Amino acid sequence: MATIAQRLMGNPVFSQVYERAWRPLFTRGFSLGGTQTVDYDRALRSYLARDGDRFVLDVACGPGNYSDDAARGLRGDGRYIGVDFSSAMLAQARRDHRGDRISYVRGDAHALPFADDSFHTVLCLAALYLIPDPLPVLDEMARVTAPGGEVIVFTTVRASIAAVPGADLLAGVSGLRVFGRREILDRLDAAGMTHVEQTVTGIGQYVHARKPDSRP
Ligand SMILES: C[S@@+](CC[C@H](N)C(=O)[O-])C[C@H]1O[C@@H](n2cnc3c(N)ncnc32)[C@H](O)[C@@H]1O
Repeated sequence: MATIAQRLMGNPVFSQVYERAWRPLFTRGFSLGGTQTVDYDRALRSYLARDGDRFVLDVACGPGNYSDDAARGLRGDGRYIGVDFSSAMLAQARRDHRGDRISYVRGDAHALPFADDSFHTVLCLAALYLIPDPLPVLDEMARVTAPGGEVIVFTTVRASIAAVPGADLLAGVSGLRVFGRREILDRLDAAGMTHVEQTVTGIGQYVHARKPDSRP
């Protein structure tokens, strides 16, 4: 049965308000009153906007709220592709975030419709905690990352959730998963990624990892 969160993501009204109303509020909520998540998000956006000839894949891209940043610095053959399984979210993305280098594909994060080693940057932001079987998604992300490429994840973490009354209950009712402190890191390690780094921002975590470069 679909969770409350999954049903919301498929709702056309929710997809219209998600980027401007829901996501900013949610991003703030992750820092439990602080600004670390908002600050990290800002830094991430400018990192994504750096110049380069890269292929970027945004897994569970929602309404494409990172597509403009990720496409801004693209040069040469560089492309941004957003993949999501919600038609409502993708319709919103196509309305709000268009460009010559931007495209969207409907697909399931568990079986990404791309060949091995295809992308230089593979993102999955604010989505893994909604996916009932999320760890295999990390394997898929690692699979489609090119040697020398990077994976960037933003999701929940249990680091300080014990301090938040009712947080586990809320997570249970909404269907949001709260990951153990090393769960994401260990899975990326096991998928062969290196330089796996975690930044905890309250009950959120950003994880950055690299796929080993195959060049000698
Ligand atoms: C909360 S939104 C996140 C959107 C955007 N990445 C962001 O950072 O704001 C979560 C998205 O995950 C998508 N999603 C959930 N499960 C998925 C799956 N198995 N495959 C592809 N997309 C999925 C939902 O449709 C929704 O658009």
